[in-house]
Parts: sequence; structure tokens; C-alpha cells
Amino acid sequence: MAKSKSYNRGYVILIAAIAAFGGLLFGFDTGVISGALLLIKDDPNLVINGMTQLPERTQEWIVSITVLGAAVGALSSGRITDSLGRKKVLIITALLFAIGSVGLAAANSVAALIIWRGVLGIAIGVASYTVPLYISEISPTHVRGALVSINQLAITVGIFVSYLVDLGFADFDEGWRWMFLVGLVPSLILFIGMFFLPETPRWLMNYKGEDEAKRVLDKVGEPKREEVLTQIKSNIDKEKEQPGIFKVLGAKWVRPALIIGVGIMFIQQLTGINTIIYYSPTIFEMAGFGAEAGDPVFNAILPSLPIGFVNVLFTIVSIYLVDRWGRKPLLYLGLIGMVVALISLGIAFTFHESIGGALRWISFVSMIIYIPFFAISLGPIAWLLISEVYPTKVRGLGMSIATMVNWVANFLVANTFLSLGRAVTGTMPHPADTGTLVNPGGAFFIYAVIGIIGLIFVYTYIPETKGHSLEKIEKHFLDGKHPKKL
Ligand code: BGC
Repeated sequence: MAKSKSYNRGYVILIAAIAAFGGLLFGFDTGVISGALLLIKDDPNLVINGMTQLPERTQEWIVSITVLGAAVGALSSGRITDSLGRKKVLIITALLFAIGSVGLAAANSVAALIIWRGVLGIAIGVASYTVPLYISEISPTHVRGALVSINQLAITVGIFVSYLVDLGFADFDEGWRWMFLVGLVPSLILFIGMFFLPETPRWLMNYKGEDEAKRVLDKVGEPKREEVLTQIKSNIDKEKEQPGIFKVLGAKWVRPALIIGVGIMFIQQLTGINTIIYYSPTIFEMAGFGAEAGDPVFNAILPSLPIGFVNVLFTIVSIYLVDRWGRKPLLYLGLIGMVVALISLGIAFTFHESIGGALRWISFVSMIIYIPFFAISLGPIAWLLISEVYPTKVRGLGMSIATMVNWVANFLVANTFLSLGRAVTGTMPHPADTGTLVNPGGAFFIYAVIGIIGLIFVYTYIPETKGHSLEKIEKHFLDGKHPKKL
């Protein structure tokens, strides 16, 4: 981060760290379901009509309704963060996270579970748009990139913590209730913490006047106060001239940026990251972990821990490399590694009969290879690119469209993973000989094909934004040049 002492470094980092609890909750509440699902699907109080397990479709809904809620939350965020302000929205979101956690912990039916998972989803969607926006608007210009990346780091920490919590409560009676309840702690930290943080200068200037904006700029110690004030004023003026949504979307010079944002989000999700983040214990169970004596749930959750850890570690590596190597080399490297790991998962599951017990280790190694390649590339870079490619005039709109596409694509994957596997590669015997399980091999092959399409997309369409000012990127698009030529 910047060596300059000319801003209030401690204060600014504290602001970013508290706001990043929104990212941590995004990670926690999406990751926690992976272990909780193993207990929920067998909970006798929830299973209906004498079945031994919740039906697959019900399980998919419990996992994916959150993602659908997040799409709704992301889409409405642009408007509410403008009218209420970023700070108030984050306070309300924290409250929603808290209510959702308690609601889930107390749920007594599948319907209640689905409703509360949906409520949490709305909070996650709002947080996924508002936290980066809040941090980027409040950070002094020269440290903005690093501070915004704290959010992706917080997402991965949230996922890792959720796996630890899942493991901790795996042996408890109705342990899934405790797993969800832990989400209350970060929600309260965000809720209380946000009361002490300022509103962003940009929003204040728009709605409360220049003096208020100046006060916050002084508090964070923005070294270029006058320059920033002028910039904010000119952006506000530009936005006043902003034409209607359809006109903007139809404009030729906006199209490449839209294609980049929407395309990169589709690729980030449709290459299957969240089958691993949300379903890893289920996949491990399919691969035979937990089949032997001991606690099957515990044994299936345990292998997820290295996955969560490697995800955090390589997000840090990516933050270090992204301004040195550039975005595109990391995207190539990441996608190639992911495709190889996905093909290996596909082959291992499809030919499980021939490889026998090796399935367990091949699937574990493939997943542990897949994650770092995702974490150095598509994980942080997709979010970074959407904050870079949109011209000022349409940045808010462009970012909220791309964020919503991210969640809709996530929903498609999370909601169909089991059914897709069943449709392509059918079922396989349960490793403990207690019925059958879906064979996910076919789904992994499909994600691999999308990874290859992603490579072509990055090669032909994504600009290398490293080292270019946002103004230069904007001018490039305005001049009608091909994105790749930047
Ligand atoms: C993605 C999430 C994913 C997470 C994993 C984020 O960038 O948007 O869908 O669960 O990375 O670390």
C-alpha cells in the first residue's frame, strides 16, 4: 500500500476494514451452506413424507435461493444507495444480515429455511455492490485499488471461517442452526461499526453540500482535496446530463464495456466456482470421503478446509501480482489451470468404476488445484475489471448490471449442479452402500468447455488495463477503438 503518510492511514484502513465486514458476510453466508446442507438434508424434522432425505431439487433451492435474492438485491442497490446514502444502506444491510441469521437458526420448516435464505441473499446482493462502492468513494485516490481489494479478501476469509464453523458444529445436535447463528456476530460488528463511519464525500456533495464533503475529505486526510472536489463536481454535472438507460445501453461506444463486464461475470460463474464453494462437502461425499467408520459428516467437511485456506492465500498472491503481471496473463494462467482441473474431475467421476478408491484423491487434488487458479484470476479480476472499464457516465449502471449478471449466472449453476450431473452422467452408488448419489462428472465437463470459451473471450476481447488511467480507458472506448487494442 502507499508509503505516503500524507493521509490518515490508520483511520482509512479502519474504515475499509469495517466496511469489508459486508464482504466477509457475503463469503460467510454463501459458504456456510456447504456444511449445513449435509445436516439439513438428513434432519428428520425437515424431511417430508417419510423420505429418508430432502429431495435434490429442494436441496438445490435451499442453496440457490440466496443467490437469486442477491441478484434482486444487486439490481435495486444502485437506486437505494443514491437515495439513502451508502452508509445508511450498509447499516440496514447489516440489520438484514442479523435478522436473516437468527431467522435461519430458528427455522422449523423447509419453507422457512428457503424464505430466510432468500432474505440473507438480498443482504448479500446489496453488500456485493455497496461495499466496493463505499470503499472506493471514501479512499484517497492513490490507495484506492488496494483498499477495494480488501473486499475480495474479506469474501474469501468469510468463506474460510464458514468452513471452520461448519466443522466446529458438525457433531452438534441440529448443528446447522448454530452454523447459521454465528453469522450474527459479523452482522453486529458491521451494524455497530457503520454508525461510527462517515458517509462518502461524493454522496455528501450531491445531497448535503460542499461543506459536509470537505469535512470528510479532511478526516480521511485526502492529500489532493481541491482536485478531488473539482472532480466530484464535474462528475455530478456529467451525470445530470446522463441520457435514459436504454439510450445509454444502445450507444455504440458503451457496448464493448458492457460486453466485457457481462462476459467476464458469466465466465467467472459458469466455470463452476460455486459448485466447489457451496457443494464441496457434498462432492467429497460423492467421492467417498466419510464412507468409513467415524463421523461421515465431519469427514466430508474436513477436506473443505484446505480449499477455503488456499482460496484466501492465493487471493493475497493475486492482489500482489495484478499490478505487476497485469490482468490478462493472470486470467490466461488461471483459466488454463481451472480447465485442466475440471477435465480431471470430469474424467475421475465419469470413470469412477475403473479407478475405484483413487476417485477420492483425484477429486480432492483436482479441487485443490482448481481453487488457486480461480483465486489468482477470475475471483478478484472480474470485480476489478468492472470497476475499471465503465466510462464515468455509466459506471454505476454498468457495475450494477454486471453485478446482477454475476448473481444470475451463479444462480444458474448453483440451482442446476446436481440435476445437470444427473442428466449427463446419471448416478453412482453411495460409497457407504446406502442408496445412490448423483454423478457430477458431466457437469464438470460442461464447466470446462465454458472455461475454454472464456480463454478465447479473454484473448479476443479483454483489454489489458494495467497501468492505464481510467480516463485513458474511457477515451479509448469513446474513440470507438477495439477493446483489445488498449
Ligand atoms: C465470486 C463468488 C465466489 C467467491 C469465491 C467471488 O469473486 O463472485 O461467487 O464464491 O469469489 O472466493
